Amino acid sequence: MAKKKSLRSSEWFGGADKMGFVHRSWLRNQGYPDDYFNGKPVIGICNTWSELTPCNGHLRDFAEVVKRGILEAGGVPFEFPVMSLGETLMRPTTMLFRNLASMDTEESIRANPLDGIVLLTGCDKTTPSTLMGACSVDLPTIVVPGGPMLSGRFRGEKIGSGSMNWMIKEKQQKEGYTAADFTEAEVCVARSIGHCNTMGTASTMASMVEALGLTLPGFSSIPAADSRKKLYAQLSGRRIVEMVREDLTLSQILTREAFENAIITNAAVGGSTNLIIHLTAIAGRIGVDLKLPDFDALGSKVPLLVNLKPSGKHLMEDFFYAGGLPVVLKELKPLLRENALTVNGKKLTNNYNEAVCYDTDVIYTLEQPLQKEAGIAVLKGNLCENGAVIKPSAASQHLMKHTGKAVVFESMEDYHERIDTPGLDIDKNSVIVLKGVGPKGYPGMPEVGNVDLPKKLILEGVTDMVRISDGRMSGTAAGTVVLHISPESTTGGTLALVRNGDLIALDVEKRTLNLLIPEKELADRKAAWTPPAPVAERGYVKMYIDHVEQADKGADLDFLTGGSGSTVTRDLH
Ligand code: FES
Repeated sequence: MAKKKSLRSSEWFGGADKMGFVHRSWLRNQGYPDDYFNGKPVIGICNTWSELTPCNGHLRDFAEVVKRGILEAGGVPFEFPVMSLGETLMRPTTMLFRNLASMDTEESIRANPLDGIVLLTGCDKTTPSTLMGACSVDLPTIVVPGGPMLSGRFRGEKIGSGSMNWMIKEKQQKEGYTAADFTEAEVCVARSIGHCNTMGTASTMASMVEALGLTLPGFSSIPAADSRKKLYAQLSGRRIVEMVREDLTLSQILTREAFENAIITNAAVGGSTNLIIHLTAIAGRIGVDLKLPDFDALGSKVPLLVNLKPSGKHLMEDFFYAGGLPVVLKELKPLLRENALTVNGKKLTNNYNEAVCYDTDVIYTLEQPLQKEAGIAVLKGNLCENGAVIKPSAASQHLMKHTGKAVVFESMEDYHERIDTPGLDIDKNSVIVLKGVGPKGYPGMPEVGNVDLPKKLILEGVTDMVRISDGRMSGTAAGTVVLHISPESTTGGTLALVRNGDLIALDVEKRTLNLLIPEKELADRKAAWTPPAPVAERGYVKMYIDHVEQADKGADLDFLTGGSGSTVTRDLH
């Protein structure tokens, strides 16, 4: 018979010596009884709650519900905070801090007497950051996704959080919207607790963790305000205790097959391009070889099954009522990898056999998809030697093959200063080129790639143009937008060398993006290029700039790739 593995927490609480006394005694000031320290699984509830992260503002309540489940199953819960990344308030961009929050999570888990982990997540970066950190420790881990907001309604129309942001300039220019109109819209958009209610980055991340096998089946699509969200949170508390007893660690679930399932699922739900960066970084932490071309090879031929904004018309609440991700995963069964395990101990492909679709205008079938091919296209060419991405399902068909003259902005500040100047030489066939928004350049690679079109073209009725940059795009946005150009302009990539009037050719079908200038001219420009001055001389930001990888590698810090396990050999004294 196999020897029962002793609990990690016993190394802290099981000792009869001075340190055993210290570890137990100070916790006693909370009134815990003796049996808390007698070999029960100790579960850390890693909470990204913060009043500054409104999407996660309900997670204190949820932690209490998770605790109920842990106690019922015979475990001992300890809730702990980690750095919370609120998408709408943090400057210059939460992406700058994703890796910092992952370090916080990793070290908080490893340094404490924990046997299993529950990650409470919601707003965009709170999912990948905590999961990256947890992967580098590799304990049994389950994710409790905070859930989307209920659908908003504004003047009789359904309105998605995030989507309204991209219409503000157009509404002002074309419909004469005033500040009072926007004040009214603000409350209509954010109608309940939860994160953005489109298939934006937060919903993409929640769907991703379920497809990776890290949530209880069906959990990710439930709105935050629905009572079933708390029900599943309680069940997750029970399940993590069992996972500790079964020693079901992250690395047993997060195999290459699980990552392939996440890519296929992301294509079918029309998920955010941000998934590429985060999933690549997570794979790097758990030791799975995942490269940028994998996203195209595995996802680009997968049909779009889900009619949700920004690619379609419905919202996450509708998705849940239609049956949610379980229906999509059941439909995708012939495409999914069979061997991927999930937190309930079963294979992903066996978890959704009973799912039923209740609204065929929200969730389509493989036979009759909403769009034949979705996913993300990975581009190559002299403008992006290490790759760039575009989301065809959110782009305009007539621009998928396009050659146009570059209108170059050297930075976001330059863009804001000049985009609406009447004399700007730009028309609907121009290609807007935005530099200096990559990982090192901004720094932090903000979601600005889908910059607004110039006012004068909006008034002419132009709704989309080709835009290219080394930045990212919000998962709630749409347009013919080429993103994540690598190498980025700040490191001297070809993007840095583009000048006004140069011809740029995009061909999504051929997967190419090229700057059409003679090679000699390109070489001369390269030789004359000088790097910009560093934007930070100290602190975390300097460390970030010095060590961040390029977008095609997931923009993790180079020294954080991989993991250090859960063992800590030295005690307090
Ligand atoms: Fe938090 Fe969109 S702002 S999920």
